Amino acid sequence: MPRPRLVLASGNVGKLSEFRELLGDLAVELVGLAEFPDAQMPDEGTDYSENALLKARSIAAATGLPALADDSGLEVAALGGAPGPLSARYGGPGLDDAGRVRLLLSETAGATERRAEFVCYAALAWPDGRAVVERGVCRGRLLLAPTGGGGFGYDPVFQPDGYDGSMAEQDAATKNRISHRGQALDALRPAFEQLLAR
Ligand code: IMP
Repeated sequence: MPRPRLVLASGNVGKLSEFRELLGDLAVELVGLAEFPDAQMPDEGTDYSENALLKARSIAAATGLPALADDSGLEVAALGGAPGPLSARYGGPGLDDAGRVRLLLSETAGATERRAEFVCYAALAWPDGRAVVERGVCRGRLLLAPTGGGGFGYDPVFQPDGYDGSMAEQDAATKNRISHRGQALDALRPAFEQLLAR
């Protein structure tokens, strides 16, 4: 029997591969937006939950398939919780991941308060507009310099509590188990079971 198809409402290839691993035990086929070049992603605001729901609902409506979306970010205590929902746009459109990491380190240089957390809201939406959203969090601290080659985004400067080294130094199985996305997806499990029961 073909597995039900689910679209990931994100153009981030790092997220697509993480979500594929996270959903590996479920009988769904997670497809990327590349298969739907006409589907437009909505503009995002500054509220994780609303952004995740908006992305999942609009891609489900545009493709006619259930859609999964997340909105995530890094909250840095020394910056009053910034960059938060603006993490992907931190420093403006001219910066790539490495540039955003450099900016973050310069903005926090000299700060003794290093606590930080990754936050994720994951939403699952059906083409008829029904949707569920759940939150996940991963606490840790901001390192003074980037280290490790795995993951994406701010992983090289984030050390999860209870682990040695940065998130970019953890193997994929460890990151998936402890990450904000892994936690949010665990909370979404009942919604996935509902999707598979149809
Ligand atoms: P979103 O696509 O609007 O959810 O943007 C999330 C942004 O937060 C990403 O572009 C990254 O900069 C950052 N981010 C989210 N999750 C992670 C992660 O697991 N590791 C590192 N950075 C992340």
